[in-house]
Amino acid sequence: MKKFLKWFGISVGGLFALIAIVFFVMALKGSASLSRKFDISDEQIPIPTDAESIARGEHWVKAECIGCHGDDLSGGPFVEFPFGYIDAKNLTPGKGGAGTEFIDQDWVRAIRHGVNPEGHGLLVMPATAFWYFNDEDLGAIIAYLKSLPPVDKETREPNFNLLGKALIGFGMLDKGVLIAKYIDHETRPVAPSALVSIDYGNYLVNVSGCVDCHGPTLAGGKSADPTAKAAPNLTPGGELGIWKEEDFIKALRTGVTSTGRQLDPAQMPWEHYKYFSDDEMKAIFLYLQSLPKLETIAP
Ligand code: HEC
Ligand code: HEC
Repeated sequence: MKKFLKWFGISVGGLFALIAIVFFVMALKGSASLSRKFDISDEQIPIPTDAESIARGEHWVKAECIGCHGDDLSGGPFVEFPFGYIDAKNLTPGKGGAGTEFIDQDWVRAIRHGVNPEGHGLLVMPATAFWYFNDEDLGAIIAYLKSLPPVDKETREPNFNLLGKALIGFGMLDKGVLIAKYIDHETRPVAPSALVSIDYGNYLVNVSGCVDCHGPTLAGGKSADPTAKAAPNLTPGGELGIWKEEDFIKALRTGVTSTGRQLDPAQMPWEHYKYFSDDEMKAIFLYLQSLPKLETIAP
């Protein structure tokens, strides 16, 4: 009996030691992923200074950025987990804001490649979608950001404890968090002209990251946030198959669907998409209706 207990103790102890070793190895791996450097060379794009372009930039920023960076773009706590936190950064030219330090190339690198001036990947920041912005639209966005009134606010660098690093090591916080590794930094997509067309609708869907939640084929999916709700099928195989253009515009403007269902703004960012113009919404709808009729994919 004594002998058995001794061996039992050694086995349990050994098992715990093994788990601890795996945990530490994964934490080291996670640490390495977080400190990975991306070598993105300086990219010069024209930054306009005229009022019309700045207004165009404001239009994009309202639809695509304030949801995370806040109405005044001064950032703040974004995710708080027991194992770590990530702040959305202050983008204004106030104290602690990117606007005080960034030169034009830094803005391009951050928004298009998801990489900060030191070469580190920006966490959660959806650059996989913003990569699709053409030079004209990205230039307008940067012009607007540079024109912001300063807001003094220090935001924190992301931080993870040992558990958080181990989760990253295990790949459990990968897609939706480690963004820069999912971007093709070498090529540029071709952008269509701004018309009410299927192609332009596709562009708007790309820059808005609809696929991040509705799935790669838009037939249904879920955002990387573990608490997120399932995002429905947007192809004609889903409810949108019987929607009319006005139903779609109403859903994006007011959050109420054709069946009277209220879309939760914390799950589906219609409170930001409501800033899309009628023509932009029409283009998105044209594109969605042009997709193959796919069966709903349950995430
Ligand atoms: C889903 C949330 C989200 C959205 C939407 C978003 N961002 Fe971010 N952004 C973040 C987070 C979080 C960070 C900080 C990442 C980090 O520190 O690793 C960040 C960082 C940045 C940075 C780097 C600033 C610095 O000081 O390093 C820039 C620039 C930026 N965002 C611009 C934008 C612009 C422009 C848009 C809209 C086109 C946008 N973001 C939309 C979450 C978001
Ligand atoms: C952050 C995740 C997220 C993003 C990004 C997102 N959606 Fe959604 N969407 C959802 C969720 C979740 C729902 C269901 C919400 C609910 O039922 O309250 C939804 C619902 C919808 C609906 C209602 C569909 C139906 O059958 O009721 C439409 C239309 C829609 N989204 C269009 C879009 C479009 C177009 C884009 C891109 C421009 C987009 N969504 C981007 C998460 C997202």
